[in-house]
Order: sequence, then structure tokens, then C-alpha cells
Amino acid sequence: MIWGTIFLCLVFQAILVFGVQDLKNLNIWPMPKSVEYGDKSIFLSKNFHLMTNGSKYLDKDGILKDGFTRLLDVLTANNVIEYVGKVDESVLLQGIHVVVNSESDELQYDIDESYKLYIHPEGSPIYANIEAATVYGALHGLQTFSQLCHFNLKSRKLIVNQIPWTITDQPRFSYRGLLIDTSRHYQPLPMIKKVIDSMAYAKLNVLHWHIVDKQSFPLEIPSYPKLWNGAYSLTERYTMAAAAEIVSYAKRRGINVLAELDVPGHAESWGVGYPALWPSKNCTEPLDVSSDFTFKLIDGVLSDFSKTFKYKFVHLGGDEVDTSCWSSTPRIQKWLKQQGLNESQAYEYFVLKAQKIAVSHGFEVINWEETFNHFGSKLDRKTVVHNWLGGGVAEQVVEAGLRCIVSNQDKWYLDHLDATWDMFYMNEPLTNITKPEQQKLVLGGEVCMWGETIDGSDIEQTIWPRAAAAAGT
Ligand SMILES: *[C@@H]1O[C@H](CO)[C@@H](O)[C@H](O)[C@H]1NC(C)=O
Ligand SMILES: *[C@@H]1O[C@H](CO)[C@@H](O)[C@H](O)[C@H]1NC(C)=O
Ligand SMILES: *[C@@H]1O[C@H](CO)[C@@H](O)[C@H](O)[C@H]1NC(C)=O
Ligand SMILES: *[C@@H]1O[C@H](CO)[C@@H](O)[C@H](O)[C@H]1NC(C)=O
Repeated sequence: MIWGTIFLCLVFQAILVFGVQDLKNLNIWPMPKSVEYGDKSIFLSKNFHLMTNGSKYLDKDGILKDGFTRLLDVLTANNVIEYVGKVDESVLLQGIHVVVNSESDELQYDIDESYKLYIHPEGSPIYANIEAATVYGALHGLQTFSQLCHFNLKSRKLIVNQIPWTITDQPRFSYRGLLIDTSRHYQPLPMIKKVIDSMAYAKLNVLHWHIVDKQSFPLEIPSYPKLWNGAYSLTERYTMAAAAEIVSYAKRRGINVLAELDVPGHAESWGVGYPALWPSKNCTEPLDVSSDFTFKLIDGVLSDFSKTFKYKFVHLGGDEVDTSCWSSTPRIQKWLKQQGLNESQAYEYFVLKAQKIAVSHGFEVINWEETFNHFGSKLDRKTVVHNWLGGGVAEQVVEAGLRCIVSNQDKWYLDHLDATWDMFYMNEPLTNITKPEQQKLVLGGEVCMWGETIDGSDIEQTIWPRAAAAAGT
């Protein structure tokens, strides 16, 4: 998707710089934008450490320091480093010198995630160097560094091969997402954190949290405390404080959390706590379009969201809306007549009204592509259209001047077990989009791990390795 150059460019670049035979030795994923390397090796010092002098960034909250600690854990992989006899420290790699040029640790859409990593074994003491605009670019640099090192069982030390290294890198796209779905199956909080950890390895930067759906409403909403009566059980719930903890945990790894509130379909579980949201007891979806209470409640939910979910986007769903309950419920049918709306116009009315509420809370809105397919010209001009039905949608969306995220289900749905890793890898978000100003409207891509057939026992092995194939596109 989303990070590396595409494979052909990679082959081409390798031929130009190193000769084809070297390609098989380049074990970095996603492939950085530009890589040069040599054929020497160096061991890491026993006191391998982080040095940050010269940085504008002061790391008050320890984001960089924690990233370095995680790096050491990954490098040693619980091996024991042994230093037998006398070691000449002056020829060892003493640490990583990280220089970050921005003071701010604000994580937001489209921050600068670029970095430069070089290991030139000159002078003494010897340091690896990372230069980055933001601390989040520096974290990517640490991830790349971790892939250059391994524990050498012969020497019993950590070793970096192929020095000198010079790597310059930045993502192709600002939005590199993974969707998880905590409505179809509840995911325990530690599992959500493990998924976030694993995203960082592949330099994905948005966790799209499809929190609630028809089946269950696990999240606490302080403004409407009966909503989580729609959870599967008393224990399969997230407090808002736990959601804030997930947002903070993800931020410290350079990952934004995109919260989704899917309306007006996919919302049956909402009515367990507030039955007035249902058209009727025997016709429970979509949410009642005719009632002020529906929109008052959405306003309360989005107000609560805005206090916890700091990403500038919120996802308002809008997919797969079967509006027949609106016409078959006499009360709502009467309202439709009074307003002069048919079912499809009422769907548009609902989506646009929900968008306005989200905008009033400071969000920009992402909607699934059906909203664009039905009434694209009416959508708020800042809407991001989230493709899923198939290929060829992004080109129509950007032609209409709107922004787009690509998730075509045939290639990028992780619950489609027949989609193989190479299909994930070959899916190109910019297919058939050649004008630079239109290419800019494609924010990126997202792989989707829908939750109908996975739970905490198999989510990781279903996401990986195919999500990494997409990350390398
Ligand atoms: C950082 O400190 C090291 C060791 O004291 C020194 O060699 C190096 O020049 C310093 N770098 C900067 C950018 O200040
Ligand atoms: C729902 O139940 C009511 C009353 O029993 C009935 O009149 C109505 O036709 C039912 N609606 C649907 C869509 O089944
Ligand atoms: C709803 O009304 C609009 C405007 O009159 C019309 O274009 C559309 O075809 C109607 N949709 C349906 C499903 O009847
Ligand atoms: C790209 O455009 C070509 C030519 O119009 C078309 O045949 C192809 O299906 C398009 N590809 C996608 C994925 O839409």
C-alpha cells in the first residue's frame, strides 16, 4: 500500500546500484525508498545505547526512549549476549544517535514520517545515526534498524551486516490502515494492544476501530450510558477510559486510532439500551430517521468521541442500508410523506445530517462508498470516500474531486481467506489515476480484518503476514 516502492522499481533499483545477485540479501520490509549498503559487519557494544544530543525534541513523555527499549527487546529476542575475553570497544557499534528536528509529539494525519538512517563505521566511537523530522519518523528508523541486526549464534553477539548503510525513507501514502471489528467478536484489550504492536513493525499508521455494529455495542458512552447494554455480556465491554488508553498506547507507537460509528444501518445493538432508536420491535434497522432523539443521541456519542479520539477523521459508515423498515413502519411512513421523501432520499438525509453533526464536533468525515455511489455530489466536500466493493472506485471518487481510501474487498479484505499474499501485494491504490493532483486525493489504503469469524485466538495469524504484503506495496 502504502509504503515501499513497487516491486519492479525495486528490481530496477537493485540492478542499477548493486547488481541483481544482491537483491535476495536485502531483508528490509517494507522496502525503504532508497537503500545503499556495503559488505562489512560490526557487532553491537554491550552498552549499546540511545543518544539524542542535538535534537530539538526533548522526549518528555519517553516516546523515543520506550521505542528504543522495544528495539532492544526485538533485537535480543531473549537471547543472552555474551562478551567473553577482552573486547575492543572502539570497533563496536556504541549506540544509535537520533536527531529529531521537531519539538512537537503531536500525531495527526499527514505528519512528516520521513527518516534517514546511516551506519558508517568511521571515527570512534561509532554510532548508527537516525535523522527525522518528527519522533514518529525516528520510530520508523528504529524499526528499520531492527531489521538490519540479528543475534549471531556463533559469536553470541548482536551483529549488523552489510555496513556501511545509507537509507532514506518516507511513506508513499499518509494513510496506511488496518481495520479491526470489535462488534462481531469482542477483542480483549491486551489483544488490541498486540495488534497495535504488530502494526508498528510494518509501519502501518491507522488503526480503524469498527467499534460497534448490529451484533454488539461494547463501548461505554458517558452521554448515553445504556448504549453498552447492547454488549454481548457484562464483561465484554470497554470503558471510555480503556478506549483512551488504547489511543495513547497507539500514539506512542506512531499509530492513529480512527473510530467508526456506522449509521444508519449496522446499528441494531444500539436499541437494546434505547428501543426508541428502532423503527419498531419487529423491525429494528436502520435507526429511526424520523425521530429527533436519534440525532440527539448521535450528537452525544460524537461529542464523547471527540474527547477521546483525537485523529482528525471519524468514520460514519453508511454502508449496506436496507431502508425497507422505514416504509413498513406506519409512524415513519407518515413522516416520510410529510417530508416528501422516498426511502432513498431519507437515506441521503440521514447521512448528510450525521455528517453535519460530526463536523460540528471538529471531525472530517469518512464514509463507506455506498454514500458516494448514491449521492456523491451532495456529500460534504471534505468527505473521504472509503472504497470496499471492488476495484475502479478510487478513480471515480478523485475524478469527482473527493478524497479516497482504497480497501477493495477482493484484494484487501483479510477475512477473505482466498485472497493470497501476492494479491495483497499487487493491489495498487493509484490504478488508472495518472494526474498528480488526483493522485494526491488518494490518502492511502487499508486492509480490513472483519470480525465475524475471528476472535482473540486467531486474529494475529489471520492479519499477518498478508497485511505486511499490503504494507509493502
Ligand atoms: C553528541 O555527543 C557526542 C558525545 O559526547 C559527540 O561526539 C557529538 O559530537 C555530539 N553531537 C551533537 C550533534 O551534538
Ligand atoms: C410488526 O408487527 C406489527 C404488529 O404486530 C405488524 O402490524 C407489522 O406488520 C409488523 N411489521 C413487520 C415489518 O413485520
Ligand atoms: C426517490 O426520489 C428521487 C427524486 O424524485 C428519484 O430520483 C428517485 O428515483 C426516487 N427513488 C426511488 C427508489 O424511488
Ligand atoms: C483501468 O483502466 C483500464 C482501461 O480503461 C480498464 O480496462 C481496467 O479495468 C481499469 N482497472 C481497474 C482496476 O479499474
